[in-house]
Amino acid sequence: MYQAVRGTTDILPEEQAYWRYVEQGAFDICRRYGYERIDSPTFEETGLFTRSVGQGTDIVEKEMYTFADKGGKKVTLRPEGTASVCRAYLEHGLNNRPQPVKLYYLASIFRYERPQAGRLREHHQFGCEAIGDDDPALDAEVIDMAWQFFSSLKLQNLSLQLNSIGCRQCRPDYLAILKDYYTGHAEGLCRDCGVRLVRNPLRLLDCKQPACQRTAKKAPRSVDHLCPECRRHFERLEAYLEQLEIPFTVNHRLVRGLDYYTRTVFEIQPAGGGAQSTLGGGGRYDDLIEELGGKATPAIGFAAGMERIILNLKKQGVAIPTRPGLEVLIAWTGDEAKEESIKLAARLRQAGISAAAATGSKSLKAQMRQANALGVRYAVIIGDEEVKTGTATVRDMANAQQKTVPAESLPEVLRHGD
Ligand code: HAM
Repeated sequence: MYQAVRGTTDILPEEQAYWRYVEQGAFDICRRYGYERIDSPTFEETGLFTRSVGQGTDIVEKEMYTFADKGGKKVTLRPEGTASVCRAYLEHGLNNRPQPVKLYYLASIFRYERPQAGRLREHHQFGCEAIGDDDPALDAEVIDMAWQFFSSLKLQNLSLQLNSIGCRQCRPDYLAILKDYYTGHAEGLCRDCGVRLVRNPLRLLDCKQPACQRTAKKAPRSVDHLCPECRRHFERLEAYLEQLEIPFTVNHRLVRGLDYYTRTVFEIQPAGGGAQSTLGGGGRYDDLIEELGGKATPAIGFAAGMERIILNLKKQGVAIPTRPGLEVLIAWTGDEAKEESIKLAARLRQAGISAAAATGSKSLKAQMRQANALGVRYAVIIGDEEVKTGTATVRDMANAQQKTVPAESLPEVLRHGD
């Protein structure tokens, strides 16, 4: 027997209410903040991601689903959404539209990670990108949008972590200071951090090993080494967030797992959750569009993991509106009644009522059991007598009351329940 590939899941019908609820929340927040939908292909040229996400990252080094297609072209299933949106922005000349261009997506994302609760090899993201403006007011708006999105879903006890990791001008100096510090503490570091020290020192701050965490705690902080422009940008952002009354914590060790970030980075986490419970994260990526061959174009965005949101909705017991399933099952006895039931089901559907005629050759009793198991509101019963008199018997499943009505009045009767 085949099984879903490790790290992938089926979303069964009973789960769908959660997905629709979160998607609806995403659509609604995007409407309110003026974001338009964009959909990009599931796979791209590999170079797009190695270039954007960065060579020294876990995503590029260990997690991408990369293969040569039949024509020998190297392609990768998207391991995140931002690079594709930037590619599309350039490819379709979206820089000629009023800036910032505000776009959102709901997309499946592929990363070869070690599967566990809240960590899958195919997951789904709701993401937003605001491209073409470096105003810290836009950072505040994007963070506010992420925050309001989670609260509109009725998730509670979330925390917003914020940091600034500087720009092309100030980051090299900071990295040199960070490297110096870590070189002085190299003996206690884990093996991965030994490599990070050489290849991607910023990620040293993010290590989950207890000994490395102790070292990271006392490490020099990027916010203390920002250039005047970045400093001012960060201060303005903090002020705007305070004005918007969004509570945040400056987390000096927040660096994110993708290399394209500049200045603002942020994450939203549930209380008491570790790294793997992060609901969403994002930041500025002011150099990425230029890196991909465009003019220098500042931008900021965020993405949230749908599966993690749903895990937390369940954990917090948030009540989700459910959509009713099938409303009417038409039960029948005899061949003529069966034909009648098929026509009747078609008529009810045309009248906007969700209906099915029982199939197979079950007894009437078994058909009623089926109606019960399906949770329909009404069963409609047609036998020889009903066929002869052009009537149908309606059974209210909630109280087992039955009445016989003219068949042509059924849509009316069922719609009004009287
Ligand atoms: P990211 O932090 O890598 O950012 O992913 C965003 C969110 O996707 C995470 O906070 C988490 O909720 C979810 N997520 C990530 N990996 C997994 C996984 N293996 N299983 C389940 N959920 C996962 C980005 O991808 C950036 N592109 C966000 C961004 C947009 N930055 C600027 N614009």
